[in-house]
Amino acid sequence: MTRLVVLISGGGSNLQTLLDGCHNGELPAEVVAVISNKADAFGLQRAKQAGVATAVIDHRDYADRAAFDAALADCIDEFEPDLVVLAGFMRILTAGFVERYLGRMLNIHPSLLPKYPGLHTHQRALDAGDHQAGATVHFVTPELDGGPAIAQAAVSIEPGDDASSLAKRVLAQEHTLYPSVVRWFAEGRLTLVNNQAVLDGAPLPMTGKLLDTQTP
Ligand code: GAR
Repeated sequence: MTRLVVLISGGGSNLQTLLDGCHNGELPAEVVAVISNKADAFGLQRAKQAGVATAVIDHRDYADRAAFDAALADCIDEFEPDLVVLAGFMRILTAGFVERYLGRMLNIHPSLLPKYPGLHTHQRALDAGDHQAGATVHFVTPELDGGPAIAQAAVSIEPGDDASSLAKRVLAQEHTLYPSVVRWFAEGRLTLVNNQAVLDGAPLPMTGKLLDTQTP
């Protein structure tokens, strides 16, 4: 069983899909711990409800990023994960931390990377007049939101969309996208080789695999 440690900062709806997938057998994995940098993150309640260990490492308790990341790594390592899953974890990580989990840490980002790394992705897509928005799952490397992409899901931008309506539709796609990618990893099909994501022995394109998450 692949051991997952999930890092969150907020609502944890992506965490919930992973908990559900593990519970119903669709994911050959187990969430062994959920760690939040915010004590009031609702995702912690979801973890407790599922009987999963939780921890809070509050970044405000540490002098700098390096000290916070060291405490976070100590906490993660206690649970001996095979994979660290960032699911709405809103902290920038130091290079040292990222290197420690290289090839075994994933992030989901709410844009079609390489477009719009960082914050306010949906508003930026709207402001640019894009026809599509979406989400990307990628391996985490020291470059912020710049690691090799594994898979993307796209949604059309409709007239009348605002950042919040768009965020809602993208999030719904994330709930299919993230468990699929975590499953590939858990099945041993997904690796990071020479800074490139490799699925079933074949390097993935720069923007990852486009998953059709909208067709039932
Ligand atoms: C998701 O949309 C995720 O892509 C985004 O935060 C949301 C978390 O939702 N992540 C980032 O912006 C990372 N920079 P959730 O807490 O309901 O899973």
